[in-house]
Amino acid sequence: MSNSNVLYALTATFTSPDDIIRAAENVRDAGFKKFDVHTPYPVHGMDDAMGIKETKLGFVTLVAGILGAIGMILFIYWISAIDYPQVIGGKPYWSWPAFIPITYEITVLLSVLVTVGAMIAVFFKFPNVSHPLHDTSFMKKVSSDKLGISVQAVDAKYDEKLLREIFKKNHAESVEPVYYTEEFISFKPRMFDPKFLLLLAGVAIVSSACGYISWNKLAFMVPYDWMMEQDRINPQSVDTFYEDGFGMRMPVEGTVARGFMPYPYKGKPDDAGKYLVNPLLPTKETLELGKKKFLTFCSPCHGNFGDGDSRLNGQFPNPPTLHSDKVRNWPDGNIYHVITDGQNVMPSYQYQISREERWAIVHYIRALQRSQHAKETDLP
Ligand code: HEC
Repeated sequence: MSNSNVLYALTATFTSPDDIIRAAENVRDAGFKKFDVHTPYPVHGMDDAMGIKETKLGFVTLVAGILGAIGMILFIYWISAIDYPQVIGGKPYWSWPAFIPITYEITVLLSVLVTVGAMIAVFFKFPNVSHPLHDTSFMKKVSSDKLGISVQAVDAKYDEKLLREIFKKNHAESVEPVYYTEEFISFKPRMFDPKFLLLLAGVAIVSSACGYISWNKLAFMVPYDWMMEQDRINPQSVDTFYEDGFGMRMPVEGTVARGFMPYPYKGKPDDAGKYLVNPLLPTKETLELGKKKFLTFCSPCHGNFGDGDSRLNGQFPNPPTLHSDKVRNWPDGNIYHVITDGQNVMPSYQYQISREERWAIVHYIRALQRSQHAKETDLP
C-alpha cells in the first residue's frame, strides 16, 4: 500500500455490540449517510440503528413480474389471435384460461432473472470486485472478533474531528483512516470494461464449443454409437445381401401380412355390392358403435343425420344425402365399399376405421334411413 494516497474512510473498531449500536446511532443522528457497519455476526437492531431503509429490490421484482405478465399476455394474444389464428377444439382464438400457465411461468421467470441480474449488476456493482476495505487490518479485525464502523470520506458531512469524538465516547478500541490507490480501486462500473466483455465472450465461446463437441462428436463416439451400429438394413439404402441390391423388400408373392387382410374389391364397387355381406347383427351395441363412429368420422361432411348438410362451411364439397333412393336401395356392400375405398372426392377411411366399425356404421346408416323412410311394419 505504498502509493495509497486517497482517503477512503475513517474506521473504528469496538468490542461490544452495545457500543457499536450506539456508535451507529450517533453517526446516523449526526447526519452521515455513507457509512457501513461490519460485524462478525448479525447484531440485532442494527438496521434501525443505522437508519437503513427497506431495499428497493422488491420493487424491481414487482415491476419485472408485472412486465412479464403483461408482455406474455400480449405475446400470446398476438400469436394465437393475430399472427397464426387457429381454431383449437372449437374455442375462440383468444381463449384466456389456456394461457394462464405460460403467463404465470413467464411472470415468475422474468421476475427471478431481473431480480438476480439487478442485484448482482446494479446493487452489488458486479463486475467491480475490488474494494478499498479489502485486505486492510480493519477488515481482518471485523471478520474475526471485533465490530467495526467505517464512514466514507465522500460523505457530504464528513468531519474527522466529530467522528473521532463519537467513536471515543462509545469506547472505540482503535480508530484509523483507510487510504486507497486510485489506480487499483475504481468506483466506475466495469460492466463495459473491455477485459470483462472479453471474459464474457470467452465463456460464451468455450461453452458453445463444449456443447458443439458433446452433441456433434462425443455423442457419436463409442459407446454412445452402439445404438446406431446395429445389424440392420436402413430404409431406402442399398443392400448387398440381395442380388438386386434393394434393402427394402416386397412381401413374398401370394402372402398376407399378419393382421392385414387386403381388400379384394378395390376399384370394384359392383363386386363389393354383390359379394359382401354385413357380418354384424344390428344389435344395440353395434348401432351405438356405428353412431359413435359416424358422428366422429362422417358427420363433419354428411351432417349428423346423413342429410349432406356439411359443417365445413364450403371448405369441402357437400356430399349428397344418404337418404336418396340410390343409397337406400344399395346393398350394404356398396356403402361399405365407399367407406373402405372412397368415392370420387370422398377419401378412403380404411386406415382410420376398423373393418368391424365400418360395418357398424353401415348398420347405423340403415337406421338413419329407416328413420326418414319408415315402413308400415315399423309403426307400432
Ligand atoms: C371429407 C368429407 C367427407 C367425409 C368425412 C365423409 N364423406 Fe362420404 N362423401 C363425401 C362426398 C363429397 C361424397 C360424394 C362423392 C362423389 O362425388 O361421388 C360422399 C359420398 C358418400 C357416399 C355415397 C353417396 C352417393 O350418393 O353416392 C356414401 C355412402 C358416403 N359418402 C358415406 C360416408 C361415410 C359412412 C362416412 C364416414 C365413415 C363418410 N362418407 C365420410 C364426403 C365425405
